[in-house]
Amino acid sequence: MDVEVEEGEVKILMPSDCLTSKYDSSVFYNKDKTFKRDLFTLAFSVLKPEKTADCMCGTGVIGCRFYKAHKSKIYFIDLNPTALNYAEKNAELNGLSDFSIEKADVNVFLSSHKFDCVVLDPFGSPTHFLDSAFRSFRKKGFLFVSSTDAANLCGAKPKACLRHYDSTPLDNFFCHEIGLRILLGYIARRGADYDFSIKPLLAFKHAHYFAALVEVERSALKADDCIKRKVGFSEVDGKKIGKMWLGDFNDLEFVKLLSSKASAIGLKKQADFLELLENEIGMPMFYYNIHKIASKSKGGKARRFDNFISRVQEKGFKATRTHFNSLGLKTNAPEDLLAQLME
Ligand SMILES: C[S@@+](CC[C@H](N)C(=O)[O-])C[C@H]1O[C@@H](n2cnc3c(N)ncnc32)[C@H](O)[C@@H]1O
Repeated sequence: MDVEVEEGEVKILMPSDCLTSKYDSSVFYNKDKTFKRDLFTLAFSVLKPEKTADCMCGTGVIGCRFYKAHKSKIYFIDLNPTALNYAEKNAELNGLSDFSIEKADVNVFLSSHKFDCVVLDPFGSPTHFLDSAFRSFRKKGFLFVSSTDAANLCGAKPKACLRHYDSTPLDNFFCHEIGLRILLGYIARRGADYDFSIKPLLAFKHAHYFAALVEVERSALKADDCIKRKVGFSEVDGKKIGKMWLGDFNDLEFVKLLSSKASAIGLKKQADFLELLENEIGMPMFYYNIHKIASKSKGGKARRFDNFISRVQEKGFKATRTHFNSLGLKTNAPEDLLAQLME
């Protein structure tokens, strides 16, 4: 039996088992990723690419949502013929006038077609598809990447992280920021192999997955500069971590624009989240655990988090919550002072 699900501006037809069983269903659809698709769709509406590869399209929900946001050519690519059958029905249901259904391995397809926008939405890690994505860009483009590879990226499986990302993670309180940085650093290094520089426009962790949108540009000079200035190592408690992305992972102007668009169309949760991302821009890497700071202060009381942030700011330091963890504090204030301010 089929069911129809409304998501954003589109209606998506899918086998009913999509809603009851995430991994054994005949076609994959994950409602938990609607939030990411909302943000990616907002981004697409601003960027307006002309030819998009919705790779590993499943029901075609991403391509359909993108088309509604900006009418352009969408290629739906998947290995699963049942998924493509639904993607085709959904493209018709949502009035797509210019689309193509491709039963193919994404790596093979991308290696022989050109796009100005590529969406990679694999099961698990996107690493195996990045080379093909870069091969499919001409001079400039946009790459939307999702990853549910948290076990590797966040330090639960360091050997696998080294193998897949050539990077050393760390399983600690801010492992999610390290994970996102490792993913972005790897995208930058794969791009550099094809003389592309990357500029992250929007990147975050939400629920159990990571999401990143980067602008890519073919230029050996810019690729050199990107790798030299933005990719490297960090040290935490005497441990060397990385390689990873060292710069900001959200672009201020872009995130501001998305945030105002989200507010304008009543996407309050998304607008609030984007505001949080905006606050993190220009802050130092990583974050403190507010509970740990409280436990270090002499007779410290559990201050309200937002009041505590104001106290730190009043001392002339930058401070904000982080989207990675509701107990995380990003600040350039020294740790000793934080404990004192808690007293
Ligand atoms: C996580 S699901 C995609 C979900 C979909 N993009 C969405 O937003 O609901 C991954 C999809 O990738 C497809 N797939 C896996 N490996 C592939 C490959 N090498 N080439 C093409 N499709 C592939 C699977 O059939 C599955 O539909």
